Amino acid sequence: MCIAPQPADLLAWYDRHARDLPWRVGPFDRAAGVVPDPYAVWLSEIMLQQTTVAAVRDYFTRFMDLWPTVEDLATAEDDRVMGEWAGLGYYARARNLLKCARVVTQMGGFPRTRSALEDLPGVGPYTSAAIAAIAYDLPETVVDGNVERVMARVFQIETPLPDAKPEMKQRAASLTPSARPGDYAQAVMDLGATICTPKSPACGICPWIRNCRARRAGVQVSLPARKPK
Ligand code: ADE
Repeated sequence: MCIAPQPADLLAWYDRHARDLPWRVGPFDRAAGVVPDPYAVWLSEIMLQQTTVAAVRDYFTRFMDLWPTVEDLATAEDDRVMGEWAGLGYYARARNLLKCARVVTQMGGFPRTRSALEDLPGVGPYTSAAIAAIAYDLPETVVDGNVERVMARVFQIETPLPDAKPEMKQRAASLTPSARPGDYAQAVMDLGATICTPKSPACGICPWIRNCRARRAGVQVSLPARKPK
């Protein structure tokens, strides 16, 4: 029998191994009372839709240099913003980015609940959960491909994707802690990106090795299963 994964074990790992990302307030800064800037969190999450962390890094830094606040971005020339976005792809994101910056500026700042965030242009269920958790430390569950893989493995979900999505979501929600939900959301993403990787997971250094049913059964590399096309 495996005991269920403990969020506290993952948070302890994150305190030592969090990736240093330009949009991130690290666990120690957060503990010291530094609050994330919702604008930076939103900008990074829009850029990270369909794009890798490695590709986003420099674009994010450049946008923050050019337009340090949402009001700065709201008053930018459309063509200038589209030009700086060039190379990131999925250009509807950049058009919605400007629309959203203007709406938020009109509102006097970013809304503070997940449902109000989800009404913003370009912000869907995933991005609203990520902003609510990361910027406001609300206990929202963030489920991306990395998180799906971690859930499939620790709970040994054999149902193939995409049918497994509701179960993955429900498992992920059941683990989301009320203490440090923002750090926890980022910790699961980091675990999936750096340890619980698709092809050769580094189980030997995983904080959840003793809680992982797939590892116990020796099937971790075959999960998540996918329906044949
Ligand atoms: N992918 C999407 N959002 C992310 C975040 N905040 N940290 C790491 N990877 C991510």
